[in-house]
Amino acid sequence: MATEFIFKPNPTREEIILNDFFANTNWDKPIHPDPAHLQFFDIPDKFALLLNNNLPVSTLVIYSRFLVYQGKKYSFSGIGGVATHKQFRHQGFATELLNRTLMAMKKNYDFSLLCTDIPHLSPLYTPVGYIPLGRPYYFIDKTGKKDVELGGMIASLSSPEAVTQILSSQDEIFVGTSNF
Ligand SMILES: CC(C)(COP(=O)(O)OP(=O)(O)OC[C@H]1O[C@@H](n2cnc3c(N)ncnc32)[C@H](O)[C@@H]1OP(=O)(O)O)[C@@H](O)C(=O)NCCC(=O)NCCS
Repeated sequence: MATEFIFKPNPTREEIILNDFFANTNWDKPIHPDPAHLQFFDIPDKFALLLNNNLPVSTLVIYSRFLVYQGKKYSFSGIGGVATHKQFRHQGFATELLNRTLMAMKKNYDFSLLCTDIPHLSPLYTPVGYIPLGRPYYFIDKTGKKDVELGGMIASLSSPEAVTQILSSQDEIFVGTSNF
């Protein structure tokens, strides 16, 4: 398997559109019960792509954010749009993409956060290091309304102590405007 990892810290608008097209084309069905256009309106500032034999097989996008928690400000990377081409599933490509993305982000963020259907997809995200938050996190949707999300998972990057602190306390987790 000849894979190539592409990490784009400052993608152009065209690259974001093409990457989004790839993810949407390979999405099975909306996995969130709520209106996706209200939750996911933000534009990602980075994306990662895995090629296999020069073909795009797996992608994800990154939203760089800050979380103020118990008086401290942490940088984190919200992960969204994780998708593998329908013809290349269950070959470890999303796992490789996630692992390589976490490595690429290690120095630049305190931790990473994503939202998923945990009962269904924890077998994908747990082995690469994501742990269920075990409680809701909050965000502001496109209409300015505060909304809640239950499927949060968190992974350590440069600050394992931040993750320990968040998981071992009960303060509100507010991630800003839009979901991931
Ligand atoms: C979810 C998705 C990205 C997984 O991509 P993938 O490249 O097939 O993932 P991997 O091969 O790395 O999977 C590793 C393990 O994760 C788990 N896993 C992967 N996809 C899964 C799925 N759809 N349902 C349940 N478990 C899954 C399995 O345990 C899998 O191991 P296995 O292949 O030995 O069963 C892909 O199915 C997809 O694009 N789905 C549509 C978009 C989507 O739902 N994205 C997730 C948003 S949170």
